Amino acid sequence: MQMTVIGTGYLGAVHAAAMAELGHDVLGIDSDAAKIEALAQGQAPFFEPALPELLRENVRAGRLRFSTSLEEAANFADIHFICVGTPQLPGSNAADMVYVNAVATGLAPYLTRPCLIIGKSTVPVGTAARLSDLFARIAPVGDQVKVAWNPEFLREGFAVEDSLRPDRIVAGTSSTESDAILRAVYADILATGTPYITTDVATAELVKVSANAFLATKISFINAIAEVCDAVGADVLTLADALGYDTRIGRRFLSPGLGFGGGCLGKDLRAFQARADELGVGNALAFLDKVDEINTHGRDRTIDLAKEMLGGSLIDRRITVLGAAFKPNSDDVRDSPSLYVAERLRREGAAVLVHDPEAVPNARAAFPKLAYTTDAIEAFRDTELVLHLTEWREYQGLDPSVLFTMVSAPLLIDARHTLDPNLWRSAGWTLRAIGRPAPATRALEQVPVAI
Ligand code: UDX
Repeated sequence: MQMTVIGTGYLGAVHAAAMAELGHDVLGIDSDAAKIEALAQGQAPFFEPALPELLRENVRAGRLRFSTSLEEAANFADIHFICVGTPQLPGSNAADMVYVNAVATGLAPYLTRPCLIIGKSTVPVGTAARLSDLFARIAPVGDQVKVAWNPEFLREGFAVEDSLRPDRIVAGTSSTESDAILRAVYADILATGTPYITTDVATAELVKVSANAFLATKISFINAIAEVCDAVGADVLTLADALGYDTRIGRRFLSPGLGFGGGCLGKDLRAFQARADELGVGNALAFLDKVDEINTHGRDRTIDLAKEMLGGSLIDRRITVLGAAFKPNSDDVRDSPSLYVAERLRREGAAVLVHDPEAVPNARAAFPKLAYTTDAIEAFRDTELVLHLTEWREYQGLDPSVLFTMVSAPLLIDARHTLDPNLWRSAGWTLRAIGRPAPATRALEQVPVAI
């Protein structure tokens, strides 16, 4: 089938390559000419495992091409995926719809044949209906432009895998014809038994924001419990494992630590609330405010712990931060919890050196006043405190005994709970992790209780 994918960011570039991999004839569209040029050479504009190979193979096979022209898009196909970003609107909690609107108004004048617009971007509920009206008004073919919503659930770092082997496909359409087109697009994936949920557009839009709100709630829940664990010297990691065995709860997204960041969970949570407010049901989602607050609080607690371990003042203290990306296997630093902490420590007077295997260029562009290195071992030299903030696998392979000899003080905060505390402590390090008992923490029986 012939189709276009409009917007070639994290979502669109992967979707375009995945559609071509399924055998479709795909034209990727973006207004950023430099990005389009790189993609046309088969180069991924960001770090994403397996994407460069997928792009290269499909560009070479002639199934995947790129352009900056919406007119060319309209001429090329009658199926158009919208994959542009919906970031947080500056000064507001709502989603910024400027890119979605620009695609719709830019494409509409060229739509002279009946076609299907399939939104994949995460949008406020009601967007598909609004776009449908817009196309009916300004496209030459009028109400022969149908709008469907088909949310994307891909995780950065696993985007290729999630696109080619999704755990479900949600198709919100307003007609059986549109539904049949979506089924045909995904026929190969559906043939493997992937669940296909057919519904109306509003439900499909809501599925995506609800999924992200739920995932964020799960993370904040375990982080709130971590704070209680801290107060009594209990172990949140064991607790999470024990909860996880209950299949009604499940262990995934119950990893305590520095909390969520990235370009999706936080902004989607806020946009969902803002939309609920507009719809007059803001109270129903008021708890999401708390979810967001717990998440920010976790970052602030880590900063407080750093201060405490350094005796109260950060002025001129040398601090090493391990990890800049918002999560491992990504070079994305949008709303990175790690960089939030690093920048705050710097502003409070510390000399902060940040290590990351992939994200240093993006981190430097976002926070130019922090110091950076791509050498994980050298990052430890003469430092007074190490904060492990993004759990890249390579940090688990570090040798604490060697690093002990390089630092000024062997102090470590493991904010992601993936370093082996016994290994580090037995090499002489003082390791603290919120929600996990430090050897010096008071034991449960010493905690005052009202009887
Ligand atoms: C998320 C959703 O998972 C995905 O379905 C949606 O399409 C986009 O948003 P992504 O932002 O790529 O994907 O990252 P994800 O793996 O979900 O992690 C989000 C954040 O939560 C990261 O900062 C991660 O470190 C944190 N996290 C995740 C936790 O703190 N604990 C967990 O248990 C899981």
